[in-house]
Amino acid sequence: MEAVPSLPPQKDAAAGQAVYTKPVLSVYDLLVLGLSNRWIWKCPTPQIEAHYNHHLSANHLDVGVGTGYFLDRCQFPSPQPRVGLMDLNPNTLDYASQRIARYQPEIYRQNILEPITQPIPPFDSIGINYLLHCVPGSITEKAVAFDHLRTLMNPRACLFGSTILHQGVPRSWLAQRLMRIYNQKGIFSNQADDLDGLTHALKQRFQHVEVRVQGCVALFSGQNS
Ligand SMILES: C[S@@+](CC[C@H](N)C(=O)[O-])C[C@H]1O[C@@H](n2cnc3c(N)ncnc32)[C@H](O)[C@@H]1O
Repeated sequence: MEAVPSLPPQKDAAAGQAVYTKPVLSVYDLLVLGLSNRWIWKCPTPQIEAHYNHHLSANHLDVGVGTGYFLDRCQFPSPQPRVGLMDLNPNTLDYASQRIARYQPEIYRQNILEPITQPIPPFDSIGINYLLHCVPGSITEKAVAFDHLRTLMNPRACLFGSTILHQGVPRSWLAQRLMRIYNQKGIFSNQADDLDGLTHALKQRFQHVEVRVQGCVALFSGQNS
């Protein structure tokens, strides 16, 4: 397995990834994917998994890897896919790469808000699941992540993912409370994230865009012909 490369500290983006320590990762699947998604964000994890499987290719990059839950469970259209892992946090890269060691993943330590200067062969699909609501800035500012990832996409590749929105989606009382706490702690930075802004940012960059709302989560995809 490849060693996780070191990077200088990057202050602005630090808070949204710093929470993912090894102890947090050990309970993430249960608390976030098991409980919060179904009962608080009202987007049960099987819906995100179905979205993941629908857009997945055998030449795939996952960005903001967390525990690697979806990569471990998804159905690649080939027994030996090329799988890349990209994240700013070395803990998540370690955790996810061990979990899917059977695919011998490529590991890229990268702040997605910064241009990608590493030489990386392009992919046919890129998954960016539950990352945008963690990174600072307005939707317009955080959409630079799409620009950076477009440099890694083959001509007909698909970029897809999901993100928890603050505006333009139904939020229960519990969702509003938890989102406020997470924003105060810097775990989330989604107070200016709205459905129209996300859709507009995708349409500015991709010819074919789909955005579907489930609970307070937007499930999206973008592709060029
Ligand atoms: C909420 S977790 C999502 C994990 C997984 N994709 C999922 O859906 O369960 C957010 C992930 O994004 C990563 N992350 C946060 N800010 C980042 C940034 N600026 N650049 C790259 N990765 C970042 C975190 O380290 C973490 O792995």
